[in-house]
Amino acid sequence: MQLQALIQKHFDQIIADRRYLHQHPELSHQEVQTAAYIAKQLRAMGLEPRTGVGENGVVAVIEGARPGKCVALRADFDALPIVESTGLPFSSENEGVCHACGHDMHTAGLLGVARVLCDIRDQFSGCVKLVFQPAEEDVLNCGALKMIADGVLENPKVDAMFGQHIWPYYPSGKVAIRDGAMMASSDRFHITIHGKSSHGSAPESGIDAITAAAQVISALQTIVSRRVSPLDSAVVTIGTIHGGARYNVIADTVKLEGTCRNLNPEVRNKMEERIRAIVEGVCTGMGATGELEYFRGYSPTVNNHELFPLVLETIKEVVGEENTVIPENSALGGEDFSYYCEKVPCVYFWSGILSPGAEVYPLHNGNLNPDEGSLATTVEIMTRCALNFLAK
Ligand code: NI
Repeated sequence: MQLQALIQKHFDQIIADRRYLHQHPELSHQEVQTAAYIAKQLRAMGLEPRTGVGENGVVAVIEGARPGKCVALRADFDALPIVESTGLPFSSENEGVCHACGHDMHTAGLLGVARVLCDIRDQFSGCVKLVFQPAEEDVLNCGALKMIADGVLENPKVDAMFGQHIWPYYPSGKVAIRDGAMMASSDRFHITIHGKSSHGSAPESGIDAITAAAQVISALQTIVSRRVSPLDSAVVTIGTIHGGARYNVIADTVKLEGTCRNLNPEVRNKMEERIRAIVEGVCTGMGATGELEYFRGYSPTVNNHELFPLVLETIKEVVGEENTVIPENSALGGEDFSYYCEKVPCVYFWSGILSPGAEVYPLHNGNLNPDEGSLATTVEIMTRCALNFLAK
């Protein structure tokens, strides 16, 4: 049977999965029922899922007819603390929690891929590892790192991995991919500048943390303009500044908070180094002391250059050249799929989900209402990516 016919055969179930998941969203680290549902579906397909991987993760392996390579496909399944306002008949039953990032679509899609691959397991060599991942939304305690620590990329060892995200800005049926970064790193930093207070009329008796902060802020702007190549992308933003106690007192403390975004891991490392050097160096030069606390969020999600053509060709095969989008820029949001990209060759793409004539609601919006028809496209691309990789 043709792949498309197989997808149609399972399509009602794919939609039923998606609606069940949508109706029963769970927050990061609490996805117990969701994980149980996924495992139950996999068992019904005759698979033997491993549960509790990296907390609530679920992993199953579909063995082909002959030995070969191992390709992993990943879907995340946590929801967000957002009130749903779509008015859909299968709206969230969990008050204040909503699948507003489309992870219900990702998971129903991957279950669909599993259903199709189980039907044709006598037709491919190697194996497909299905990675159902929790806690993508928790930047400081994410599911990807926990699943990696729990051995998701081993036994069998994963040779390549594919993932995707619904993309509400493109019409359903269009798919986007680029050779390079898809998503940015997202880091946060806190700077504390210590001076010494004195009377505002006698600055020489104190050390002014406010003038030191002013110099630090100006100097930080030179990282992007003078230390990062004009061909690379980077952002340094100071979002808050707090300091001083009274109009006629030299401030002894100033606190700043900011964020950095990067698309290139080397540039990212350099930025942290440069921020630290400026904070410490400028403050020292002004008689103050400066401390930097730097918190790493997700790394940039960068598509593997060697694996990229296989996925690009697969996407074109499924949706045609006219529906294949090569965006000029990556998105500046973060994604913990980046951690798999650092370990094994990975490719990640965006699936358009906007229904014809519908209003665009961004990710993390309670009105997000993806076109379910796009699941046929996503399931076919993911399935073909796996098969094309194993046949390579
Ligand atoms: Ni998401």
